[in-house]
Amino acid sequence: MPRTKFIAGNWKMFTTAQSGRELAAAVVKGCAGWSRVRVAVCPPFPYLNVVGEVIRGTPVALGAQNVYPADEGAFTGEVSPAMLKDVGCRYVIVGHSERRHILGETDPLISSKVQVALTSGLDVILCVGETIFQRKSGQTEAVLDTQLTGGLRGVKGDQAERLTIAYEPVWAIGTGVNATPDQAQESHLFIRRRCADLLGPEIAANLTIQYGGSVKPENAASIMAQPDVDGALVGGASLKADSFLAIVRAAMA
Ligand code: PGA
Repeated sequence: MPRTKFIAGNWKMFTTAQSGRELAAAVVKGCAGWSRVRVAVCPPFPYLNVVGEVIRGTPVALGAQNVYPADEGAFTGEVSPAMLKDVGCRYVIVGHSERRHILGETDPLISSKVQVALTSGLDVILCVGETIFQRKSGQTEAVLDTQLTGGLRGVKGDQAERLTIAYEPVWAIGTGVNATPDQAQESHLFIRRRCADLLGPEIAANLTIQYGGSVKPENAASIMAQPDVDGALVGGASLKADSFLAIVRAAMA
């Protein structure tokens, strides 16, 4: 069975209630009648509800950008998996490089988020990727290995069906410099092989591995044509319906 492509829009700390509502409505309209691609949008926390109302009952799914690894408690400023489920989220992004590098998230924290989110019934998009320094010094595979081993610790086989990996080289995020199709394929193949060791060959064969980092309508098709690239996690280009929908269209090619 070929893997279904999955395009997710990571809106980061952009949009307003009004612009988020309009963007979501345009995405829903543009995706009407398309069923061959999985599509999700991930607005900021305060807009999950408003965007959720717009996309409810449509094929466009709701995702969050972060989660705290506990059901509830005295964790000021944090949001639990149950709360995300309650407002209609299917997905949550965990371990985004902006959270690793700007907010200081570590692999053990990321691992507990992955586990608690999966146990709570959320589908997890786990982000991994190397910095430019790590790539230039030949550490790409070692970094991916550490992030996968750390992030997937304790994940059980049946839970892994709700897991997506997003390969997001840090040097490609928001820079306009995307990985070439060959660079993406090389890393994706490495990730799939490592996931075969960690989760089993069957899970790895069915695992969705998205590419993220300056995905645009102009480069989406060639990157997603690679055999181990199963979609995209899109930042900047997901903030405009036209460019996001062009990427969704490229995934159907
Ligand atoms: P970008 O961001 O598409 O703006 O590079 C991707 C991401 O951070 O998920």
